[in-house]
Amino acid sequence: MSDSRTTAELGGMNLDVFRRYAGISLPRHVSYPMPTWWHDVDAADAGAMLHDAADQAPARDVSLYLHVPFCETLCRYCACTRVVLPRKTAGSRERVERYLAAVRGEIGRLGHMFGDGRSLGQVHWGGGSPTYLDAEQVDQVHRTVFEAFHMAPDAEIAMEVDPRRVTFEKLVALRRAGVNRVSLGVQDFNDRVQEHVRRIQPFEMIRDVVDGCRKLEFDSVNFDLIYGMPFQTVDTIRETVETTIGLSPDRIAFYHYAQIPEKIAVQRGMDYTKLPDSETKLRMFLTGLSMFEAAGYVFIGLDHFARPDEQLARSVADDSVQRNFQGMTTGGGLHLLGVGASSISHLQDVGFLQNVKGVEGYLTRMERDETPIERGKRFSPDDLIRQAVMHQLYCLAEVRPETIERRFNIDFGEYFERELTILDELQRDGLVTLGDDGIIKVTKPLGRVLIRNVGAVFDAYLDPDAYRKGEREYFSANA
Ligand SMILES: C[S@@+](CC[C@H](N)C(=O)[O-])C[C@H]1O[C@@H](n2cnc3c(N)ncnc32)[C@H](O)[C@@H]1O
Ligand code: SF4
Repeated sequence: MSDSRTTAELGGMNLDVFRRYAGISLPRHVSYPMPTWWHDVDAADAGAMLHDAADQAPARDVSLYLHVPFCETLCRYCACTRVVLPRKTAGSRERVERYLAAVRGEIGRLGHMFGDGRSLGQVHWGGGSPTYLDAEQVDQVHRTVFEAFHMAPDAEIAMEVDPRRVTFEKLVALRRAGVNRVSLGVQDFNDRVQEHVRRIQPFEMIRDVVDGCRKLEFDSVNFDLIYGMPFQTVDTIRETVETTIGLSPDRIAFYHYAQIPEKIAVQRGMDYTKLPDSETKLRMFLTGLSMFEAAGYVFIGLDHFARPDEQLARSVADDSVQRNFQGMTTGGGLHLLGVGASSISHLQDVGFLQNVKGVEGYLTRMERDETPIERGKRFSPDDLIRQAVMHQLYCLAEVRPETIERRFNIDFGEYFERELTILDELQRDGLVTLGDDGIIKVTKPLGRVLIRNVGAVFDAYLDPDAYRKGEREYFSANA
């Protein structure tokens, strides 16, 4: 039975429909095809894919993802690929230096293939915790990058920054080393939540880091927030969002807590009796959505917000926005070259490649002068068509058949006959609208919060009914 009071509270959203579709396990399609369908590749396959990408004419520009797996301590929610290595551990400095030597070696190898005749448009430092490194180590890696690639004059050099591990002096040194954008792991401002997830960072600490970034004129400051963790309530989320808006970041990633304790041991320490249920999580999300929009932020994709004049919001207008394992970013169309343990490369029109996940395995391969790549997926013609549809769906919240038809020389209605029949059903339930011009629009808020159900319709690797009954547990942070 529908609950009209609740429905009104949820901006007219039909809770019965939400209940029917929500909570089933579906991919977030950070990549298409999902990593679940990637397979082992040997050195010859990996080399051939890299060559195919490097030999494309005209040459595409590139971006680099640099993975630093180390963290000083472990946060209880963390689903990232990381290694806890307290600095006081004997031999930790040598271990990190050995890793950085391998990273520099890999940058050199990639520069050899992709360095000439194209620009490096973006560098993204992720982890783990890039701020585990000191600024000198970052600078040293940058020098290798600048030697191997032609840096575009307006290149974005972004770093994930753990507010507990930077001082103003370190920010100064990072800025001097070339970093011009930062993403702060804020997660939640509530003391009880911070204590439970073992990540204590008082408001004053975050405020000082933000003030420091502003003083040093970083081009953009992003906040990562997570909702749906134990001890979070709609009220605590409202306070966290209010505090966030008060600090005025340029972008916000408002992540749903990805909970996979069967794979991620540290998450087993969470108090699951204090976990919000799926309707409470929906309210949390809608609270954030309405507050960020009221404060002037533009809602982008599944879970990102940006100031209208910020590069990410502008990239939606010129369609250079993209979704990858770092979240929503600009720089669509560039080859993404992943460096370091577990890193993923997206070679446009060719395929995905992923390095060995474990640090030791990665080091062994690099030190033996072997490829660090262990799995990947070469795109089929059908993968590329569906990838373009997923891109429009998740980045722009609509699918424009005409652009797909023009790019791939297909008849959209014929090619996606089965999918369009299912979309009729989703239209009746209010998740999408199918316009006379053929444009498929995802509704807001219902379709946007259930966008994975819409995405599942176009995923050829899933059961055709997956959009309404789910399949299995999916997680996509390079896992
Ligand atoms: C590599 S981590 C962040 C970098 C840095 N180590 C830090 O913690 O500040 C990137 C982001 O992933 C998000 N994240 C990690 N585990 C998550 C989970 N289980 N569910 C949702 N988001 C998660 C967090 O918001 C985090 O800031
Ligand atoms: S959230 Fe960041 S600091 Fe915490 S364990 Fe994960 S990667 Fe490390």
